[in-house]
Amino acid sequence: MKNIGVLTSGGDSPGMNAAIRAIVRTAAFYGVHIYGISYGYKGIYEQKIRELNVYSVADIIQRGGTILYSARCEEMLDPGGTERAAELLGGNAIDSLIVIGGDGSYRGALALSQLGINVMTLPGTIDNDIACTDFSIGFDTALNTAIDAISKIRDTSHSHNRVNVVEVMGRRSGNIALYAGLAGGAENIVVPEIPYNIDKICEKMLYGKDRGKLHSIIVFAEGAGDIDTFCREIEDKSMVTTRKTTLGYIQRGGSPSAFDRVLASRMGAMAVDLLVAGDKNKAVCYKNNEYISADLGSALNMKYNFNTEVYDLAMRLSL
Ligand code: F6P
Repeated sequence: MKNIGVLTSGGDSPGMNAAIRAIVRTAAFYGVHIYGISYGYKGIYEQKIRELNVYSVADIIQRGGTILYSARCEEMLDPGGTERAAELLGGNAIDSLIVIGGDGSYRGALALSQLGINVMTLPGTIDNDIACTDFSIGFDTALNTAIDAISKIRDTSHSHNRVNVVEVMGRRSGNIALYAGLAGGAENIVVPEIPYNIDKICEKMLYGKDRGKLHSIIVFAEGAGDIDTFCREIEDKSMVTTRKTTLGYIQRGGSPSAFDRVLASRMGAMAVDLLVAGDKNKAVCYKNNEYISADLGSALNMKYNFNTEVYDLAMRLSL
């Protein structure tokens, strides 16, 4: 191994900077050159590559976003595009690459590994939908942002005896909705993985009302359907004033939680340790309270499963 490149790709997530810091400083510890590639895979084509040192990553552990910027990159979906990327990395004497991102970014890394680049991936997404790891970097922070908002909305919901629908991120995954719903005590949680039933949702709300509940919180994942239609249906059926709040990108920003900083630091350091030890083409994961690495191809073949047990629990606890 000669030189390591590092990039952040896809939607940014709080803790990416902590991971970059750990990668750069671990590489410096081993005396290995490390190059930051800006704007994800796009930066390879556009040659936005610069050497980083221990000082380049000072004062970033507490910052959300990514100092390397991020982007989604169409070229990497095309075999010709990945070949070109591998050539350009070679032209910069970069033989190893650490990719921090979601599963789309992992696929790009796998394609590069098949072209001779030594890759390591770190799960960087607020969605926590990467099957090989129990936690992805940024999920905990996003969840805490969502909980903070839900708690505030709960106050006004209570005062006005309304139904408040809170839309959280997750186009294909209901994880943020699930755990924010459980931790926020939501009466109903709507996720892309389970088709919703307006009658059942209203039945539960009315059951609560009969027992003296004056308001209701519904956490709704963005990928579960059209929130305006949903709110209209709830209001028409329940005859209770229904309001929506879309949290949006606020969930992707902010200072990372202690959990995300530790996760990112440990994963970043481990990726470099593994490369230095001659390992390659692995996904760094946190599974069953342990930091492990999984073969990247197998990691991508694992199926992410929505946790229906947690969903049932959240529903049971919020009667
Ligand atoms: O990064 C994951 C995510 O935040 C999803 O939850 C969301 O659906 C998507 O990214 C939004 O992506 P974009 O930044 O392209 O709007």
